[in-house]
This record gives sequence, C-alpha cells and structure tokens, in this order.
Amino acid sequence: MEADTLTIVDNRTGRKYEIPIEHGAIRAMDLRQITSGPEDLGLLSYDPAFTNTASCKSRITYIDGDRGILRYRGYPIEQLAERSSYLEVAYLLLGGELPTEEQFRAWEYDITHHTFVHENIKKYMDTFHHDAHPMGIFVSTVAALSTFYPEARNIQDPRVRRNQIFRLIAKVPTIAAFSYRHSIGMPYVYPNNELSYAGNLLHMMFRMTEEQYRPDAVVERALDLLFILHADHEQNCSTNAMRGVGSSHVDPYCCVAAAAAALWGPLHGGANEAVLRMLQEIGSVQQVPGFIQRVKRGEVRLMGFGHRIYKSYDPRARIIKEMAHKVFEVTPPSPLLEVALELERIALQEDYFISRKLYPNVDFYSGLIYQAMRFPVDMFPVLFAIPRTVGWLAQWEEMLADPEQKISRPRQIYLGSRERQYVPSREPAKVKSAR
Ligand code: CMC
Repeated sequence: MEADTLTIVDNRTGRKYEIPIEHGAIRAMDLRQITSGPEDLGLLSYDPAFTNTASCKSRITYIDGDRGILRYRGYPIEQLAERSSYLEVAYLLLGGELPTEEQFRAWEYDITHHTFVHENIKKYMDTFHHDAHPMGIFVSTVAALSTFYPEARNIQDPRVRRNQIFRLIAKVPTIAAFSYRHSIGMPYVYPNNELSYAGNLLHMMFRMTEEQYRPDAVVERALDLLFILHADHEQNCSTNAMRGVGSSHVDPYCCVAAAAAALWGPLHGGANEAVLRMLQEIGSVQQVPGFIQRVKRGEVRLMGFGHRIYKSYDPRARIIKEMAHKVFEVTPPSPLLEVALELERIALQEDYFISRKLYPNVDFYSGLIYQAMRFPVDMFPVLFAIPRTVGWLAQWEEMLADPEQKISRPRQIYLGSRERQYVPSREPAKVKSAR
C-alpha cells in the first residue's frame, strides 16, 4: 500500500527520515529535524519569491494555471462574469456562499451607506501636489483612514472587522474618484447612493454640470465585469503583502494600503498602465515586428504577457478581450486595439513566447477598455485596487481565523561576513559645537 510520506536520506549523516505528505505538500518545519550535527539548527527550504512554497491553506480562490481555470469559492469565473455582479461576488468571496435576496439587499445597503468620506479626508487629499500619481494618493489616503477609525485596531472583534470591511469596500471608489478629480483640479463629486457600485464610480469620476449623471449602461456593465475579474487571485504579490502585514495584527486600513502599494508595481497591477504606455510607444501595426524582436533580444518585456501561475491563456484575458468589442461599439474606437491584436497574433506564433508559455494576462486588454471609458492611464492601477480590496479583505479574515497562522517571518541564508572587530576606517567625525 502506498503511504502518504516522503522518505529522505541525508547523505551527510546516512540518516533516514519519514516525512508526512498532506494535500500534496510537506511541512517545511518537518525538515528541521534533519541536522548534520549538534551545531546545525536543521534543514531549511530555500525558495526566493515563493515559487514552490504554500504560505497558507485557503478556501477562497482556485487557479489551475496549466488548464487556465479560475474559480471563486468553487464557481467558474466565466459563470460569475456572465451572471453575477461585483457586489454579489464580493459577498461570495467574503462569506463563501452566494447571498439570498434578503442578504443581498442588506449587503448592498451596508456598502451603499458607507460611501462618504469624512470631510477631513478631502482636506487631506487637497494637500497632494497637482500632478501626484492617483495611486500614490490612493495608497496614502487608505492608510490615513486608519486614523479616522481607531476602533479598527480591535481586529479580534468580528463586528468591528465587519464595519471596517463595509467602510473599505464602500470608500475605495470614493477615494479613487477624488484622487482623479484632484489631479485634474476639478471639484470632488459626492457619491450617489441611487447608482450601482460601478455606476457610482463613473458618476464621481465624470459628472460635470449634469443635473443627474446617468452612466452608459454598456460601460457600467463592462466596468462591473472588470471588477468581478479583478476581485481576487489567491496568493499574488499584493495579497501576500496583505497577509504578511496583517499577520502583525495592525488594522485593516494599513494592511490594504500596504497591499495597494504592492499592487502598484509594473510587474503586478501596474502592468495595465505599462501595457498602454507600451502600445503608445509602439504606435502602429507596422512597428510591431520590430518591437517583438526587441523583446526576443531581452531589451524590453512584452507587458501584459506572462504569469507566474498561468502557463496557458489567462481566462480573465479571454473574457476581457470579448468584452472589449462590446465596449468599442459604444465608445470611440481605439487605434491601439489594432496594435494589441497584432502583438498578440505574432507573439502567439513565435517560439520565444510558446516555449516560455507566455500568453496574454488580465492586463493586456483591460487598459484599452479603461482608456475607451475615458479613464486616464495613471488611474488604471487604482481601478485594479478598487475591486481587489475585497479579495485582500477575504484573505485577511481567513488568515486571522486560521489557528496555524502566526506573524509572518521567513528565514534567510546568511552569506555575509563572519564576526569581525571594529577598526575605524576614517578619522572620528568632529562633534559640532552647539551655539
Ligand atoms: N515579456 C518577455 N519575456 C518574458 C515576459 C514578458 N512579459 N515574461 C516572462 N518572460 C520570460 C523571462 O525573461 C524568462 O525568460 P528566460 O527563461 O529566458 O530567462 C521567462 O519568460 C520566465 O519569466 P520569469 O520572469 O521567470 O517569470 P515570473 O513568473 O517570475 O514572472 C511576470 C511573471 C508576470 C512578472 C512576468 O511574466 C512579467 O514581467 N510580465 C510582464 C508584466 C505583467 O504583465 N504583469 C502582470 C501580471 S498579471 C496581473 C497580476 O496579477 O499582477
């Protein structure tokens, strides 16, 4: 009979160890018993960038990167994209089940009634320089919320946690829209609780002098769909930041700010902005082959391509690509769509990309859609952060409830100098005389 164990023979000592395998994994702590002598603290596993290390057990999001499968709480992303709404998905991610009609109404009410921010938040946002990047404003303002809700530090109380979750999901669109209005020197537009989650964001972003701003139905639905697709993605860089920072038991505003900061980088959620700048730089279909050659020579990366987990077409990219065509029927056509389609066409038949399993990811087409919806390029990472807030919060709550979790604290392999004695390498600095 097959045993669920791993037998390890340490050739340094000749000793043999039997290590249990559970859920296709061994516990790294089981390696600690493997020592080469009394001075040895035990065998470590070395895994920079966590390429083969599970940091948690989770029941939220499932990805099969080889087969291009993404599921939230067991539901395929394609079905949620077609039949659900962002707020329903948010409820699902947090609680594990789809809401009944009554539960959904109560949930929608609670989110809708936390959309306003304190007037001092507005003043805080006013202090940013006129050309401050909206993501910088967003990260700082979310962190600043922690000073407005000091009770949020009581993370062990489920009711307190619930209130901060309402506040965060409800206020991130307001902060996002205010950061944009600030950057263009326009007055802030207060939330309209009559509108949907996505419709209200469009209202706060784009309302000018209209008595009643009415979002375009296709654009509103497309934005909601983009929010569904971006809501969670298991243990990515920003979620890992959320869990890592949250493991110190700091309040959720600081955690979300840290996660959003991680998201901003061009290798993560900042890629949608980087894709658009890349498409603008390429400029025309004729320039595409030359750009692909530069990618192959290793001079530049094809932004919006490749993924740590997906080694086939990112299922989110497939949905977004289909949706792009619908959006472009009601918005001005984008000349960059042609460039993107040509890049994808050539890349998918080039050996460089095929052999490395590089396919379009979620960011490849999303930027084009955001641009068609009139969002400025530097708002793209903010548009990623809004829906991902719920994923971060779901993962944060799961971590807090997990009895196996402790403060995150990886080990290191120290390769620096051994102990040495201090010998001054320059004249001691003169003490400045006080006047
Ligand atoms: N363009 C050209 N070559 C690439 C690319 C790319 N976009 N991505 C990976 N490669 C090459 C890389 O140079 C390496 O080649 P070699 O084996 O010859 O050294 C090989 O593919 C493996 O790449 P890697 O960097 O080891 O892969 P990774 O898993 O560490 O990186 C990634 C994943 C997403 C950071 C990377 O693919 C990348 O930089 N892509 C562009 C940025 C991007 O679109 N990011 C958005 C990710 S999806 C949204 C999100 O969830 O954040």
